[in-house]
Amino acid sequence: MSTFETILLEEAAGVVTLTLNRPDKLNAINPQMMADLHSAVTALSARPEVRALILTGAGEKAFAAGADIAAMADMTAARARTFAQVGHRVGALLETAHFPVIGAVNGFALGGGCELALTCDFLYASEKAKFGQPEVKLGVIPGFGGTQRLARRVGIGRARELCFTGEIIGAEEALRIGLVNGVTKPEELLTKVRAIATAIAERGPLAVASAKRVINAGADVPLATANELEVQAFSALFGSSDQKEGMSAFLAQKKPAFTGT
Ligand code: COA
Repeated sequence: MSTFETILLEEAAGVVTLTLNRPDKLNAINPQMMADLHSAVTALSARPEVRALILTGAGEKAFAAGADIAAMADMTAARARTFAQVGHRVGALLETAHFPVIGAVNGFALGGGCELALTCDFLYASEKAKFGQPEVKLGVIPGFGGTQRLARRVGIGRARELCFTGEIIGAEEALRIGLVNGVTKPEELLTKVRAIATAIAERGPLAVASAKRVINAGADVPLATANELEVQAFSALFGSSDQKEGMSAFLAQKKPAFTGT
């Protein structure tokens, strides 16, 4: 795998862990990190053998404490637009990738950090995690999808309150409102998330990719249209070797050996 200036990648048995790596700046997302994320996720998306991606942050304090305020302070509107557009492209890449993306939120996930977390399919958090969209305290609003994805994840009323007040919430509150699926002790977070990612990596990869695609595509269309998408995707899988393998292995009481074909 390639190496990058601001992120680290490790891979084991189809599970890639991507670590945001500017711990001295609480992993603040600067244009270089956004470019690195774009390149890395583009490359991973072209590799069918990647079955799950974990996003986390280096160090003990932060997932990412936001977009880099020092890098944004003097931006013109035109540069800010480009920065936001690249952020949205990274979000779209993560959402359209064939593999599930799980966020392991180990500390601050503020502003752009919270928005990057929201592009993950689902999140687990350490007890020390803190979430928020504090951009209004800086005179701006979320620019990497926070105004839209937060509302879709936790409901529009809670999203409005978080975006209008800039209030920071802890892991237990994030669990209560459905922002994260579970909370662990800090030292257990990666073990927990890796176990989930490994389980996903053992499932039928075409089926997992199809479930991700249908859930995402169905979220923003009428239910009848979404259900039709499901019927099409469900039936299409009956043309795959994985469907034959999965069902015949079940009937023979064996473990399936999926090939992703
Ligand atoms: N952009 C750029 N640098 C950031 C940053 C950000 N979003 N968040 C933290 N940093 C930097 C700090 O400037 C500091 O750098 P320095 O050591 O060179 O001075 C370093 O990371 C450590 O942060 P510090 O503020 O000293 O840590 P703390 O534990 O006292 O406070 C926070 C932690 C998260 C409360 C505080 O850093 C903060 O409020 N960050 C900004 C959060 C924010 O508004 N994010 C949204 C941006 S759109």
